[in-house]
Amino acid sequence: MNSTDPRVIVALDFPATTAAMDLLSGLDPAQCRVKIGKEMFTRAGPQFVEQVAGRGFEIFLDLKYHDIPNTVAAACAAAADLGVWMMNVHASGGRRMMSAAAARLAQLSEPPLLIAVTILTSLAAEDIAEVGYAGSPADNVLRLAALAEDSGLDGVVCSPLEVGPLRAERGAGFKLVTPGVRPAGAAADDQRRVMTPGDAIRAGASYLVIGRPITAAVDPLASLAAINAEIAGALA
Ligand code: C5P
Repeated sequence: MNSTDPRVIVALDFPATTAAMDLLSGLDPAQCRVKIGKEMFTRAGPQFVEQVAGRGFEIFLDLKYHDIPNTVAAACAAAADLGVWMMNVHASGGRRMMSAAAARLAQLSEPPLLIAVTILTSLAAEDIAEVGYAGSPADNVLRLAALAEDSGLDGVVCSPLEVGPLRAERGAGFKLVTPGVRPAGAAADDQRRVMTPGDAIRAGASYLVIGRPITAAVDPLASLAAINAEIAGALA
């Protein structure tokens, strides 16, 4: 693992690899990790993952696997073969699916982190009721996070507002990875409930997924440095 353990994971949300590689040319792998999601992976594939890893960046492969246990475990093993640092699955795939994936990765000498998505933040109370979930989104987030930890996972993705309640209930080593982070004064873009980097870290977040405040900045390196300084202040 990166010895500096940077807390920022830069979301590489670009329509083409050239723009992503241009951004990475200006960033330092000691100062951030990067997230590769469905769009870039579907366009550019495993080769792009290997290209980014080749630049020294640790990668969160955000493909949110959700399938039968054997298929998800095999997909996680394939992602680990690419050398990624972190990957994720949907907790709603259930205990057997999560345990199978965790057990497969545990066979590796340096297993990547495996985290779960609980309830997508795009789903409101009426949406989860419509697909058959009882209780509020917040109740379901806490319940599925407990199931993820019990199934051997390393953490969950969660909204900044869920960090506090999850940190209170889950183990200290359980990773809380949160998007929806905006430095004070930055544009919220399409994020509706945002928290500053310092507040998210103070609430108990482990890693912050941040895209446009860095990727669309005039000076991405300076934006990242300012965010890292705020995080260092919150950790001190
Ligand atoms: O540009 P921005 O900082 O909003 O990017 C946040 C990243 O985190 C994007 O890749 C987005 O898809 C992802 N994400 C999110 N909210 C979630 C889950 C993932 O913003 N609930």
